[in-house]
Amino acid sequence: MPDWSIRPYSGTREDAIELLEVEKQSFGECPYSAQELAARLARPEQRVWLAEAAGRIVGFLSGLETLGLGGPRIEADLLGVHPHWRGRGIATALLLALRRQADGRQCVRGVVSLHNPASARAFARAGFAPSEWACDLLLYRIRGRAPRALPAWGGAVRPLAQRVEADQLAAIARGELLTPDRLLRSTQETGVTVLIAEKEGAIRAGMELLEVHTLLYSGLWIESILPSESWRPAIRAMVTAAIELAKERGLDEVGCLVPKDRWSLRATLLEEGFAPLDSYRVWLAHPLPAERTAP
Ligand SMILES: CC(C)(COP(=O)(O)OP(=O)(O)OC[C@H]1O[C@@H](n2cnc3c(N)ncnc32)[C@H](O)[C@@H]1OP(=O)(O)O)[C@@H](O)C(=O)NCCC(=O)NCCS
Repeated sequence: MPDWSIRPYSGTREDAIELLEVEKQSFGECPYSAQELAARLARPEQRVWLAEAAGRIVGFLSGLETLGLGGPRIEADLLGVHPHWRGRGIATALLLALRRQADGRQCVRGVVSLHNPASARAFARAGFAPSEWACDLLLYRIRGRAPRALPAWGGAVRPLAQRVEADQLAAIARGELLTPDRLLRSTQETGVTVLIAEKEGAIRAGMELLEVHTLLYSGLWIESILPSESWRPAIRAMVTAAIELAKERGLDEVGCLVPKDRWSLRATLLEEGFAPLDSYRVWLAHPLPAERTAP
């Protein structure tokens, strides 16, 4: 029997304080006080698991439920184990707990740095499979809230709202297996925004944005671009609009995972002030039945 156990975060002040201590030992990047952290973790999409040993918290996994065009998902967002407690299977057990928590429709996703073999090993041991392709995370940090002019490209960017827009976007993004119904439904889902770029009465491209509130930041993820190989001025206009949206909502950053071969998207983001952070693989797993304890 291990001398540690896994349990859900309870929502108490003590849990938030101890979680923050482990975060300091494993990342040291959380900008929030214990009180602020507790308020963030009280959000309904949070799925947080803790590892406990001798009455103290020694590890955590903060997960969050997201919706969007890819379907319902639980993101295995931040995983940390106190240095004295590493190498005992705690991270693996936390990931398995999150997989067991997912309902049958949700897949579980983690984004793991190519330079973090311990994390990759824990995801593999917990039954996650890595993407073949690697991607770079590009980040735009919001520094000021003053609005910026959108690039002049002869078109307009706005949130998708009407059936006729969904029809047009689904038609130009037909390689992405999206129906107009799916597009329209996503506009009603919490945290999801679909932007469209229109010029001369025709929709040229769309962009799916997910709003997330993690242990480290609040931000927008550029989750997908429709069609994925879109006209560059339209992408640029939507990227700028996404940054403005993040400012309006008081968020801290906009992030985008860019596959290594998407040179045009990468160049557009760099031009708009995004900075590359690190290279990652996306790890996916199906939910586990609640009673199972092994991958
Ligand atoms: C990544 C982390 C969460 C792993 O926690 P853990 O409880 O030690 O993980 P587990 O014991 O479940 O599994 C880790 C596996 O990686 C292996 N491992 C550890 N260091 C490694 C290294 N440098 N290279 C390759 N494998 C390594 C361990 O041997 C173990 O595999 P094994 O059980 O097959 O021997 C922990 O190291 C940590 O908190 N790191 C700092 C924060 C971080 O990077 N988090 C992940 C990104 S969100």
